[in-house]
This record gives sequence, structure tokens and C-alpha cells, in this order.
Amino acid sequence: MIDATGRPQSVLVLGGASEIAQAIVAGLVPGRCRTVILAGRPSERLDAAADSARAAGADVVETVAFDTTDLAGTPAVINDIFARFGDVDLVVAAAGALGGQAELEADPQAAGELITTNFTGLAVSLLATATCMRAQGYGRIVVISSVAGDRARKANYIYGSTKSGLDAFAQGLGDSLVGSGVAVTIVRPGFVVGRMTEGMDPAPFSTTPEAVAVAVIKGIGSGAHVVYAPPILRWVFAVMKLLPRAVWRRMPG
Ligand SMILES: NC(=O)c1ccc[n+]([C@@H]2O[C@H](COP(=O)([O-])OP(=O)(O)OC[C@H]3O[C@@H](n4cnc5c(N)ncnc54)[C@H](OP(=O)(O)O)[C@@H]3O)[C@@H](O)[C@H]2O)c1
Repeated sequence: MIDATGRPQSVLVLGGASEIAQAIVAGLVPGRCRTVILAGRPSERLDAAADSARAAGADVVETVAFDTTDLAGTPAVINDIFARFGDVDLVVAAAGALGGQAELEADPQAAGELITTNFTGLAVSLLATATCMRAQGYGRIVVISSVAGDRARKANYIYGSTKSGLDAFAQGLGDSLVGSGVAVTIVRPGFVVGRMTEGMDPAPFSTTPEAVAVAVIKGIGSGAHVVYAPPILRWVFAVMKLLPRAVWRRMPG
């Protein structure tokens, strides 16, 4: 159960090896999060994430095979997790891929796979999650979106559009869950220095997985609907969205 101070005692991560999710888990476990379920594509990275959660002090840590692109299989995976572990206080939807814009433009099938990974697949998983959480009558779903979804840029509109779609989906899901005891927090990080952005020049206001995790955990505690990381990006993107299109289209990659 989520305790009186809003701290979850169990967490399910969809995309369990994500660096941002690992930082969130590392921040939650010392705050009495006892059960950590890491759903992701089986890999040494996923196993290492589980080892880190154990080392941080979680009592029950398990990895579960989960691939967002398996649209027929993921609802059963999620139902099974809720059936086996009982109530889950917090679900963090962190799975996602960036892809290279030029490569994706040249390979529509690969673009379709990215869209399935980041949007369609997560939407299917989140619907299954919401049904389980509605039945338990409480909980929080954290959806990791991106500022890239606030306004699609020429330089990464394929990724950006997946995040716009996911973000809109999460907003609607959150509204549909009002009164059920289940809430949704949307997280919009900027450029996060890490594996996903390796080799790229950091954008202004770049941040780290650890800093994103601090903002997310604060947002969970306060019941925030939307968390920007870093927070200043809320105001930066409020202005960015108003820029004339002729200016916006010149934004660098
Ligand atoms: N890094 C940034 O600058 C940034 C900025 C804004 C938003 N975000 C979002 O934050 C989330 C976490 O990203 P991160 O920075 O933590 O990067 P990350 O470490 O690369 O994590 C992404 C995770 O998604 C998993 N994933 C990819 N395709 C999947 C699939 N088909 N099924 C299941 N899992 C899949 C990856 O699994 P594998 O380990 O098997 O590859 C990886 O563990 C993503 O949604 C990303 O779009 C990131």
C-alpha cells in the first residue's frame, strides 16, 4: 500500500532496464519500497538492474519478460504480474527508443516499429495496467513522455510524434481514472545525458537520470499530474509552443 506520506511500497517498471527508471527505483527503495518488478526485454542489463535494486535493499525483486511490440502478449504479462504479486502501488512506463531521424525516414518499416514500441505498444500495456489498478482501487501510473512531444521538431519528429501520442493518451487515461483511486503522472524530461543520448551534444537545460528521478519522486509525493525535468522546461516549452512555425522549423537538431 502507498503509505500515509505517499510513498509506494511496490513498483512495476515497464522497460525495467531504463536508466531513468533505475534511478527512480534507487530513489524509492530507501523510502520503503519493498517490492520491485522489472518488466523488460531479457538481457544482462535487465539482470544488472535487478541486482542494483536488491543491493539497494528491496526484499522482493523479479524480472519479467516484456516487449511492448508484442501487442497480443503484453496484456497477459501485466495481468499475470498483478495476479502473482497482488497489489502494485506504482507502475512506471519507461520503455522507449529514440532512433535516428534520417535512418527512420529512409526506412518506414523501422519507423513503424519505433512508433509501435513507444506509442501503440505502451498504450496497450497501459490499458491493461489501468484495468488491473482500477480493480485494486488505488495506485499511480507514471508515464515517461518527453518535451519532444510538446512540439514536434523537424530534426526528430518521428520520435517526437510518438511522445505526443503517448502524452495525449496518458492525459486522457488520467482523466478517465478520476474517481477510481488511480492517478496518472506524466513526466516530460528534456535531454537526459545517458545511454539513449550517447554521442549527442547535450541540449540546453540537459539533465541526468538521477535528477529526473528526484523530480519524479517529488511529483509522486505531491500527486502532480505533469512533471517537467528540469522544471524550468515547463516555461521554456510554454514559449516554444508559441514560436511561429517559420522560426520553429529552423530549430537545430
Ligand atoms: N534519455 C533522454 O534524453 C530522454 C528524454 C526524454 C524522455 N526520455 C524517455 O525516457 C524513457 C526512459 O529512457 P532512458 O533515458 O532511461 O533510456 P534507456 O536507458 O535507453 O531506457 C529505455 C528502455 O526502454 C526499453 N525498451 C526499448 N524498446 C523496448 C521494447 N520494445 N519493449 C520493452 N522495452 C523496450 C529498453 O530496453 P533494452 O534495455 O532491452 O534496450 C531500455 O531499457 C524512454 O521512454 C525515453 O523515451 C528519455
